Parts: sequence; C-alpha cells; structure tokens
Amino acid sequence: MENRKIGIALLGLGTVGFGTYKVLKAQQEEMAYKVGAQAELRRILVRNKAKAVERTGQPELITDSMDDILNDKEIQIVVELIGGIEPARTYIEAALRAGKHVVTANKDLIASDHGRLMDLAKEKHCDLMFEAAVAGAIPVIMPLKQSLAANHLSEVMGIVNGTTNFILTKMSKEGMEFEEALALATKLGYAEADPTADIEGLDAGRKVAIMASIAFNSRVSFEDVATEGITKLSAHDIRYAKEMGCCIKLIGMAHSDGASVEAYVAPMLIPEDHPLASVNDSYNAVFVRGDAVEDAMFLGRGAGELPTASAVAGDVFDVVRNIVHGCNGRISCTCFKHLPVVAMEDVHSKYFLRVEVEDRIGVLADIANVFAGSGVSVEQIIQKQKTGDNTEIVVITDKVREGDFKEAVQRIADHPATRAIRSTIRVYTA
Ligand code: NAP
Ligand code: HSE
Repeated sequence: MENRKIGIALLGLGTVGFGTYKVLKAQQEEMAYKVGAQAELRRILVRNKAKAVERTGQPELITDSMDDILNDKEIQIVVELIGGIEPARTYIEAALRAGKHVVTANKDLIASDHGRLMDLAKEKHCDLMFEAAVAGAIPVIMPLKQSLAANHLSEVMGIVNGTTNFILTKMSKEGMEFEEALALATKLGYAEADPTADIEGLDAGRKVAIMASIAFNSRVSFEDVATEGITKLSAHDIRYAKEMGCCIKLIGMAHSDGASVEAYVAPMLIPEDHPLASVNDSYNAVFVRGDAVEDAMFLGRGAGELPTASAVAGDVFDVVRNIVHGCNGRISCTCFKHLPVVAMEDVHSKYFLRVEVEDRIGVLADIANVFAGSGVSVEQIIQKQKTGDNTEIVVITDKVREGDFKEAVQRIADHPATRAIRSTIRVYTA
C-alpha cells in the first residue's frame, strides 16, 4: 500500500463541509489503494470554532485564520465550502497563489468568475475543480470536459434545482398550488429560509452558465443567462399541460448551433416521453445532445450533505491522483471560442398562452388576428372553461421569435375583452 499523505484543508464546516469531512473519513483506508495516496485533513477553517470543535471532536484541526492554512506547506489541497462571493474568492485566489490546488462547490463564484480563477490556476499549474457546483452529486463537469470532449454538443438542458422540481412534482402529482407546495418544501428542509434564488431560477441560472461555458467552449457568465422562475405557475397550467401529454419542469437550457449560444432558465412544457419528464421530487438530471454521443442523460441527487460531499470528495481524489502522477493542471479552461449569447427576444420557442377573456362573439377571431399581425404562427387555439361572463382561451404557437410573441401578448393584454393574461410558458421542441 502507498503510505504517502497529502495534506488538505476544508474552508467551511456547514452542510457540505461536514459531509465532506465524513466522506473523506469513511474513505481513509481505501483512498490510497484507489489513487495512490491518502488525504490527510490538517485544518478546518470556520467562523464559530466552538461549534466546529463540538461537531468533530478534533480541536487541533479547527482554526479561524486562513493564514494557518496558507502557511502550512504540507497542505496541498484547499477545499472551499463557505459559499458566496467573499471571502471565498479571496481565499481561493490566495490558495492558488500559494501553489495549492483548489476544490470548490461554489456555483455563485464559478458562474461569475470562472475565467479569471481558471486563468490563475493555469498560471500556477494548479488544479481548480468544481464538480459539486452543478447538480450536486451528479457527474456533469468531468463528463463534459473529458468523456464527451470528442463531441460538438448542441444542447445541454437540465433540471438543476431540486427545490423547484420538488414543488412542481407536488403541484403535478397532488394538485397543490405553488404556495402550498413551497410551504411543504420549506417544512421538509428542501427550500432555504429565503427561497428566492431557487424559485426565481437564479440558482439554476448559475449552473446553466457553468454548463454552457464548458459544453460550448465559450465563456457564458451568470449575467448572460436570462432567468424566469416558477412563482407564476398554477395547478391550472399543469392540468392543461397534462391534457397536451406534457409536464411542466423548470429547465436550465443551454443550446448552440455552433455560431452562437442560447442560455436561459424557464418553466417549460416537456413531452411525457422526454427523459427529463420522469425526473421527479428533488432529483436533478442533465440531458446532453452531441453529434457523436447522440443523447445522454445524467440523473441523481442535486443537493444534500452526503450527495454533494460525494462530488467534492471525488474531486479531492482526482487532485490527489494528479499530485501522485505529477500532472496537475492537466484540465484547464476549455473556453477557446468567443460565441455571442443570443438576446432573449431573438430566441425561438414554441409557446403556451392562457388568457382569460370576456365570453363574446369575435374574441377568438380577434386573438388569432393579433397573432397573425405580429407574425406569430399559431398551432392551436382552444376555448376552455367558462366562469360567469368570462372564458379561458389556450393558444399554442408554432416555434416563433420571443420578441414577436411578447409583442402579440402585449396587444392581447391591451384588447378590451381581455380580463387577464394568466400564463405564458415555453413548450420544448427538439
Ligand atoms: P452552509 O451550511 O451555510 O455552510 C457554510 C460554512 O462556511 C459554515 O461552516 C460557516 O461557518 C462557514 N463560513 C461562512 N463564512 C465564513 C467565513 N467568513 N470564514 C470561515 N468560514 C465561514 O453552506 P453549504 O450548504 O454547506 O454550502 C457550501 C457551498 O456548497 C456553497 O457554495 C453552496 O452553494 C454549495 N452547494 C451546496 C449544496 C447543498 O446541498 N447545501 C449543494 C451544492 C452546492 P459558521 O457555521 O461558523 O458560520
Ligand atoms: N438550492 C439548490 C436546489 C441546491 O434546490 O437544488 C444547491 O445547489
């Protein structure tokens, strides 16, 4: 057995930090056989030392000073699990400048600073790994960078937020309205105290930025990703989607024709026979389409203590293996193209529109005329249920330019017979 020990430090001992602590401990015996050396945990950086001592029973490991880590020559790997932008960015940069390899789960930081940090890692011949930043436990980054590298990928779309998938599953399977399903997600600990980043699509948007950059070899940052959440969806929409043989999922979409990139997060009607349609509860999945691989899907837990720690520890294993073989920095930034990100108004999608109108002769024809006037081709227009003097109309368009569709919706909203635009949702087409 290889007796070599590689020193590592954890920054943060929260959900993922403590999970990583436990997973690395559980792997202590076998790690050397698997990758040629053992990871030796030398320091854990926290704010509240007493809490961390109580959790680990190892006061000798706990520090609140980053200098203790930077100045320890035996520490070769720094695992950042604090989250957010600062002080995580400063600590990661300091670790890389000190020649230490970095593993992180920090999607906020990687989605906004991926390029700068990767360049610094390359300059220092260090590894910077972040598998856990996208879809928690599910291997996505490494498959995109390595196993699927021989493809021209055209689509990477995923259910990359567990909280919203749980909420949509409850709305779909149990007929709950959004607020009720969110309250349940909070009670069960899926949703955070402030769920905004999840339900407004921001968390998924960060993951889309990271996936798109890697899949299309062109830098996409979080600011480039248009995000729309699930707060406006109702059980009504889900029922109509079912009637059309679809379900509604919050999709993180990255698409490229080779000349430009589309990157956005939005609720979407997905046909029941699409592999993503069967991904329920808090599960995540990423569906990839490439010219050689054809279609592939990765499925699993997108969050949680041990699932996320599984991805973090997997990266630690990889860095240790690279150290043993003297080949760190093998996989650096792969963004060698400079593709423009398409403005949302120029993205083409099929749409579902639900509108409540006054129930009188000619309204249906007026709506059809508005669409025609805006250059929006309509596939179906159906009158649904009546309530008093009003009736609900559902329109399914062909694949149309978003700017044109929005113009038509505004004109319908301004029509004197319109009571309310209830929902506009994209319909996925391959
Ligand atoms: P968390 O439970 O809030 O833990 C954060 C930890 O960082 C705590 O131990 C906290 O220590 C420590 N910390 C905060 N500020 C610090 C500072 N200035 N100096 C030193 N330590 C500091 O967060 P988490 O859920 O584990 O998330 C960690 C990272 O993993 C984030 O980037 C997150 O996006 C990512 N991630 C999480 C999940 C998940 O399921 N939770 C999934 C995928 C990715 P104190 O307790 O002493 O304040
Ligand atoms: N809040 C995220 C989710 C997990 O609900 O999937 C962390 O990325």
